[in-house]
Amino acid sequence: MDAKGKIYAAAFGIILLMFAAGMLAPQEQQVTLLISGFGLLALVSLIFVVALPIIARISRHPFALKALSLQRQIGICVFLFALVHVLLVLHFALWWDLSLLLVPEAVFVLFGVVAFAILAAMAVTSNDFSVKAMGRNWKRVQMLVYMAILLVPLHFINVGQVFASNGWLVGAVVLACIALVYFRFRPKKSLPALPSEGAPQTAGPK
Ligand code: HEM
Repeated sequence: MDAKGKIYAAAFGIILLMFAAGMLAPQEQQVTLLISGFGLLALVSLIFVVALPIIARISRHPFALKALSLQRQIGICVFLFALVHVLLVLHFALWWDLSLLLVPEAVFVLFGVVAFAILAAMAVTSNDFSVKAMGRNWKRVQMLVYMAILLVPLHFINVGQVFASNGWLVGAVVLACIALVYFRFRPKKSLPALPSEGAPQTAGPK
């Protein structure tokens, strides 16, 4: 099995393990734990995949560099974790009644819906064919991940019942997400170079 196949196999193994662990909980808590567990797994793996280029550049660790070369496949796994979370919510919390998403109280659930749509768009376009076919629009779609990484913590904090009550975890997640967006969009130093610093002189008419 090649490295890409191993990533998908690992993701499948994690999903099975999560279900097995969920089954060990008391029956009345199983659904909540599974929904929350897959939501958190999707969020943490989303942070990891967005942070990968920074981790690889700073650490230069072979594991980080290898993971960076598999970033697309890891991104698809993030989508799969989110998909399990969404399917569990649809089946056990919304009973497939999508009109429940349109009530005012569900606004922070809708943040999750938008983030999920972004992850889906990214997963569908994570292939060489889309890169070629979409040209510059491909990069634009990929940049939407920064919108998702701001929406999901708001969703997490406002609708979470399990992990959202852990202040340390919430703090770490919020800090990580803000830091990732800041590092991507921070103003780059673009002051004009001084002539003494070797800026090319124009040779115009005197
Ligand atoms: C169609 C899209 C989505 C819907 C309808 C949805 C719905 C929900 C609901 C109803 C809850 C509350 C569950 C409970 O505690 O019983 C929840 C929690 C959560 N969701 Fe989502 N979600 C969506 C997308 C996402 C995505 C894309 C992510 C992450 C990438 C995510 C991460 C989380 C997290 C971390 C929690 C809180 C876990 C906790 O502390 O309990 N959700 N979601």
